[in-house]
Formats: sequence, C-alpha cells, structure tokens
Amino acid sequence: MLTSTNSKGRQGQSGAQGVHDGFVHLVGAGPGDPDLLTVKALRVIEAADVVVYDRLVSSAVMELVPANVRRIDVGKSAGHHPVPQEQINSLLVSLAGCGLRVVRLKGGDPFVFGRGGEEAIALASAGVAFDVIPGITSAQACAAAAKVPLTHRDLATGVRFLTGHRRQDEVLDFDWAGLADSETTLVVYMGLTNISEIAIRLIAHGLDAATPVLAISGATRPEEVRLTSTLGRIGADCQTACLAAPTLFVIGAVAGLVASMGCAERADGVARLLEERETACVAAE
Ligand SMILES: C[S@@+](CC[C@H](N)C(=O)[O-])C[C@H]1O[C@@H](n2cnc3c(N)ncnc32)[C@H](O)[C@@H]1O
Repeated sequence: MLTSTNSKGRQGQSGAQGVHDGFVHLVGAGPGDPDLLTVKALRVIEAADVVVYDRLVSSAVMELVPANVRRIDVGKSAGHHPVPQEQINSLLVSLAGCGLRVVRLKGGDPFVFGRGGEEAIALASAGVAFDVIPGITSAQACAAAAKVPLTHRDLATGVRFLTGHRRQDEVLDFDWAGLADSETTLVVYMGLTNISEIAIRLIAHGLDAATPVLAISGATRPEEVRLTSTLGRIGADCQTACLAAPTLFVIGAVAGLVASMGCAERADGVARLLEERETACVAAE
C-alpha cells in the first residue's frame, strides 16, 4: 500500500479503501494569458498538492502555481515525446489514490480537443472523485483577440469546431459537403500541417476561394501573430509566413470583419508578418 502526506497535511493511501480520498480537478488553463483563467481555476491551483500540466499551458499561467506545489510535466518526456494518454490517466488515478488534491491543468478548455473526456472516463471508472473547471477555449480567445465574432446575424448562423488532423495522421475523411457551408463559421484546431488540404477540399465542395480566413498563432501570448488570408491562398500564405504552433484558423465571412475592427495594423495579411518573421524563417532554414 502506498501512503503519503500531502503538502496541506492531509494523509492518504492507495488501495481499495483509499482510492476515494483524493480529488482531481480537470482544469482549463485558457489560451495563455493568465488573466483569462477563471477565478475558480486559480482557487484550486492555489489549494493543490500537485499540478499535472500540458505543453500548451503557458509559463505565465504556471507562474501562478505556488512554489510548494509539486509540478508534473506530461507534455514532454525525456525523449521529447508527450507522455502517452493511458499513462497520464493512471498517474491521475494513483495521485488521487494517495489522498492528494490534484489539478490536471490543460490548455484552453479540457473538453474541447483536450482529451479531458478520456481522463474523466478513467477517473470515473476508477472511482476517483473529480470535477471539471472550464477554460476559455482557443476559438473564443482568438476571436476575441482579433475582435471578430464567431456568429453574426447577417454572416454566420452557427459555428463549428473541427480538428485539422486525425489520429496517427490518418486521412481527413470528413463530411466535406457538410463542412462547406458558407453560413457556418468553421474553426479549425490543430490544422497547421493540413490547412492546404482542408482549404482545397472545402473549395472543391462549394466554398468560395475568396472566403476570408484568419489564422492566429499564440493567441493572447506575447508572441501572438495574426494572418488574414482567403481560402484560396491560406496554404501558401501560412508557408510564407512560417506560422508556428499553436495556430488556429477561423474560416468564414466573420473573419472578413477583422479589417473593420480597429486592429488593421496587425491585420494586413502576410506582408507584415513577413517583416516580423523574416529573421526567424532565415534562421530556421
Ligand atoms: C490539442 S488542441 C487543444 C485545444 C484546447 N483544449 C482549447 O480548448 O483551446 C491544440 C490546438 O488548440 C489551438 N490552440 C491552443 N492554444 C492556442 C493559442 N494560444 N493560440 C492559437 N491556437 C491555440 C491550436 O489549434 C492547437 O493546435
């Protein structure tokens, strides 16, 4: 039996009886700006015994974790590979089994492309008490950063969040005809590698090549960059601009509003980005 005393003086033990002693908070850390954390997220972080965090959690958010709280980085292992999901699930169960108050901190919202659902199922199956504290997902953060609404009565009657890649790089076998809807804003997460293919497919299924596209990298962080483009050009523009992860794409008429939102100085497309990125691109070659 594993027994431990946590930093707040509580004692816990793993085993058939002790597994219920701990608690796991699945917490959304938001897009990066620590001011975008919820008050509840901050409270549980401050009361935690251990914080298990991902690569997408910004260093500014991690600075809010008290110095005496143990941190476990599951974004990267020694070989620079992320810790496998099953291992993270087991880690959360065993930390809670030791009676610890665990904060599982994830970028954005834990239930939007965050595998929070898989962790929730693992915790529930193991009988571990947990709750979910939502975070601002990057679609909301990017829209707000560019002052572009995701819906608009005249331009978009709905919004759809889409993953831009499949498990183990399988083919993108989406319902392209359904996705190519000019009245729905399409937000693509994890789409940097496949954005050319996504754009080509959407155009082939009826979206206008002139449909506005907004790409934002590192939204709400000091390194944030925005690129305005069109569906017909976005693949080439992304390459030219050397956009880096994490990048999110907002596709649809609402993205065209960026020019009227008073952030024109950062919304003049690839030309400005090229200036900013010239050094970085040359260095990377
Ligand atoms: C694994 S998903 C996690 C999404 C996260 N759970 C959320 O709700 O935002 C990673 C993707 O989220 C997007 N993303 C996360 N943080 C971002 C940021 N600060 N700026 C732009 N995109 C971001 C990117 O599309 C990235 O590839």
